[in-house]
Amino acid sequence: MIALVTGASSGIGAAVARRLAAEPEARLVLVARRRDRLEALAEGLGGATVIAADLLQEATPGLVARRVTEEHGRLDLLVNNAGAALGLDPVAEGRDDDWQAMMDTNVVGLLRVTRSFLPLLRAAPHAHIVNLGSIAGFEVYPGGAGYAASKHAVRAITQVLRLELNGEPIRITEIAPGMVETEFSEVRFGGDKQRAAGVYAGVQPLTADDVADCIVWAVTRPPHVDIDVMVVRPVAQAASHKVARNLE
Ligand SMILES: NC(=O)c1ccc[n+]([C@@H]2O[C@H](COP(=O)([O-])OP(=O)(O)OC[C@H]3O[C@@H](n4cnc5c(N)ncnc54)[C@H](OP(=O)(O)O)[C@@H]3O)[C@@H](O)[C@H]2O)c1
Repeated sequence: MIALVTGASSGIGAAVARRLAAEPEARLVLVARRRDRLEALAEGLGGATVIAADLLQEATPGLVARRVTEEHGRLDLLVNNAGAALGLDPVAEGRDDDWQAMMDTNVVGLLRVTRSFLPLLRAAPHAHIVNLGSIAGFEVYPGGAGYAASKHAVRAITQVLRLELNGEPIRITEIAPGMVETEFSEVRFGGDKQRAAGVYAGVQPLTADDVADCIVWAVTRPPHVDIDVMVVRPVAQAASHKVARNLE
């Protein structure tokens, strides 16, 4: 299986890469901005193609696709995982830079990557696209307008692709996690580790590996079985903003 994971330098993407590496004949392509992280991960996995690139750059998806074309000639699995939440401001105080970066990374970046890789996915006997959505793709919370809008868009894109790819052997799955403890909150709060830790205080969040487990399960079903959408959240999180903390 030739699999490409975006956002493989951290969190869910790195966990998915580790689990996929254990699959028979897996050959991985790891994409993110932080080369040192990707190289350390690849070394631990016994080798992988590392592409350090910024998905905010318009040319990146095409360049990455060209490299995969040269090295492999096809792609069996695309995991569109790279993404971020930036800020938790109400709309009245929202920052243009945060909104723009979320839309560019989570929505336009995902669209460009998918478009660039469709020819390679079509060159595989069976292919699979996994998009990382979120419970924010169908629930909302105060301060989450930009992020929730971007993840609602991921949900819409996934559904549109399912219609557009009907008749082709390409599966498409949306994985929609609730709270997962990764670098996500630290990124959201501009590197404020204390504020990020508060998100997970008094609650057992999902781990990146919990989500990777779901993704690899969906991917390893027989080729005619399409897992459309999988919602996975901590048992203590009934809704995005309703979290039971400090339970015995
Ligand atoms: N953690 C949660 O609670 C949660 C819940 C629901 C959904 N999700 C979704 O799950 C996905 C993974 O998040 P995570 O929790 O694993 O967060 P994370 O630890 O912050 O990882 C995000 C990954 O995305 C990459 N990335 C971000 N911007 C990029 C860009 N412009 N170009 C290339 N790579 C970029 C980062 O790599 P570099 O910084 O090295 O570029 C990193 O590898 C995201 O789509 C997120 O929205 C997370």
